[in-house]
Amino acid sequence: MVAVTNQPPRIMLLTGASRGIGHATVKRFSSAGWRVITCSRQAFPGEQCPWAAGPEDHIQVDLGDPDDTLAAVEEIKNRLPNGELHALVNNAGISPKGPNGSRLGTLDTDHTTWMQVLQVNFLAPIMLARGLITELTKAQGSVVNVTSIAGSRVHPFAGAAYATSKAALAALTREMAADFGPLGVRVNAIAPGEIDTAILSPGTDKIVAQIPMRRLGTPDEVAKIIYVLCTETSSYLNGAEILINGGQHV
Ligand SMILES: NC(=O)c1ccc[n+]([C@@H]2O[C@H](COP(=O)([O-])OP(=O)(O)OC[C@H]3O[C@@H](n4cnc5c(N)ncnc54)[C@H](OP(=O)(O)O)[C@@H]3O)[C@@H](O)[C@H]2O)c1
Repeated sequence: MVAVTNQPPRIMLLTGASRGIGHATVKRFSSAGWRVITCSRQAFPGEQCPWAAGPEDHIQVDLGDPDDTLAAVEEIKNRLPNGELHALVNNAGISPKGPNGSRLGTLDTDHTTWMQVLQVNFLAPIMLARGLITELTKAQGSVVNVTSIAGSRVHPFAGAAYATSKAALAALTREMAADFGPLGVRVNAIAPGEIDTAILSPGTDKIVAQIPMRRLGTPDEVAKIIYVLCTETSSYLNGAEILINGGQHV
């Protein structure tokens, strides 16, 4: 028999929910009864939204704009009925490409692109986590930062700014784990390899041939691990970076 409780749903704030890994994450958490507040540059999709979420569960924000991000933090606080946030998943990311989808190396990346990538992929996560620390602490919540295999090795398609931002996010995860741990908030990262989403570049099939599991990962395979990191199963995991890549790193 399923126990019926009057507990309000647990609440997750998820950035970059409109596609790919984020979309699969909404699905996973919603089906487990969580309320998911999403953030992306797009407006709430209205009737196209496949879950029981309303516009009150979506915040339109450009995480590439520091002022907009700080304003969003205030708006998010207003949406938390008991001032509790059980999970923050920093998933939004950008991976700019050169002409015809070419890799942007250190010699081809201009200052504006560096700053945009660092703001969205690296600084927005700490702005959100720091801004919401009271709410995370009250719920004894969990933070998950989405890094990348490109943060630890040169990747044939991911650019230099993207890779550097993800390496920085991995280091930030370590620092946050040390600072947030005493408050009862766990901070971990997941580092996906090649996951079947729009962010992948043409030519990924050549990489797949070298992955021990010989296939791409699916967004749901990533979402499942994010779920574990936000729930009781991982209650003593803090400061970890979990590789989800079919053995691509070996
Ligand atoms: N797919 C892979 O193989 C792979 C591998 C390693 C790491 N990752 C990481 O996994 C995460 C998700 O990747 P994905 O493949 O699912 O990406 P995706 O399909 O390109 O989706 C990216 C998400 O981020 C949001 N976003 C982008 N810029 C934003 C901004 N300035 N402000 C607010 N939201 C913004 C997008 O929404 P809007 O466009 O509506 O703003 C979208 O929901 C990223 O951090 C990525 O680096 C992916």
